[in-house]
Amino acid sequence: MTEDTAVPESILVDDIGSLVTNDPSRGRGVVGEVEEAALVIEQGRVAWSGPRSQAPAADARVDAAGRCVLPGFVDSHSHIVFAGDRSREFAARMSGLAYSAGGIHTTVEATRKASDLELLSGARTLLREARTQGTTTLEVKSGYGLTVADERRSLEIARRITDEVTFLGAHVVAPEYADDPDGYVDLVSGPMLDSCAPLSRWIDVFCERGAFDEQASRRVLAAGRERGLLLRVHGNQLGEGPGVRLAVEMGAASVDHCTYLAPEDIDALAEAAVRPEPTVATLLPGVDFSTRQSYPNARKLIDAGARVALASDCNPGSCFTSSLAFCIAVAVRDMGMTPDEAVWAATAGGALALRRDDVGHLAPGARADLILLEAPNHLYLAYRPGVPQVAAVWKDGELVAGSPDIGA
Ligand code: NIG
Ligand code: FE
Repeated sequence: MTEDTAVPESILVDDIGSLVTNDPSRGRGVVGEVEEAALVIEQGRVAWSGPRSQAPAADARVDAAGRCVLPGFVDSHSHIVFAGDRSREFAARMSGLAYSAGGIHTTVEATRKASDLELLSGARTLLREARTQGTTTLEVKSGYGLTVADERRSLEIARRITDEVTFLGAHVVAPEYADDPDGYVDLVSGPMLDSCAPLSRWIDVFCERGAFDEQASRRVLAAGRERGLLLRVHGNQLGEGPGVRLAVEMGAASVDHCTYLAPEDIDALAEAAVRPEPTVATLLPGVDFSTRQSYPNARKLIDAGARVALASDCNPGSCFTSSLAFCIAVAVRDMGMTPDEAVWAATAGGALALRRDDVGHLAPGARADLILLEAPNHLYLAYRPGVPQVAAVWKDGELVAGSPDIGA
């Protein structure tokens, strides 16, 4: 290797105007904000972070020029392995049609017909899109195959782009089982799970009217747990229901949507928040935006003591955005979150929802997954909605999007 191409052993990211560490012992507030900060990357990890006046020497230097650095977004909920287009369904919704779980079948039909290559390149394009906007960890679900072979294929594709892979055979009842929904639950928790569990870290179920009821959801989750999978739940998206309480009872890492909550659901989430392995309430503002539903009351959840994450739920039906910055802006504008809480929820909150302690923060030892914002601090994410402010993104210490150079 010549000297020009040698990879430096350590990199000092210097002159950071505001650094979000998400470690309250290191700085201000829940986000542990340090002003006039620096950070050292070594072997893909954060080796040091703190006030720049105390920064150690390093082999190379990146100039943040007074801008903000925060942890890469941890998007704990997406469905990006799919084919087909549902833009007309969205337009019809905006003219008054209600969202229903049934639309999923349109995507199932298109996904089954697509080639492996089409599905992989579609998923890669969306991953790249998310990464450019600051997402450095992305969970990806199956759920648009609904046969053993098609679910397996979706998971194989998901595994090529992420480690956070979720088996969602229980998305809706497959059309072949329309008259025998119990038979489909047998399939999902039997042969389909046998085939899919080795490819997955997580199992998920859509516990909702029009999808799976409490009893079926419980069966699917219990079968997954027996196979060593960790649990997550889609619940309380379209109305109040058993999803949240089931997730808490079964020790799921996260229950996602939480748009319609009864007081008992909030109590259950508050109680689950203090467990060593909490059940996180993952809110998906993009879904409520794109389906014209009311927004969940994040303020009430946080004040009750629940742990709250924000995720995109990027999918072709209920929400086709990969932008966590957008989710943060909506959560601040319409869900009662402070900018600090929303940024925490899209980074450390997502990590908690994925039971990861190596991402979502920038204390020493964390993965060097960073966003350099074209802004002086993280408040700008909500303050300048719709504006692309991500200047550069590093994953595991490698620059994967943009450039730190001023005006690049
Ligand atoms: O999380 N709620 C269930 N699944 C997705 C929507 C899928 C679709 O409409 O295609 C969601 O919103
Ligand atoms: Fe979803």
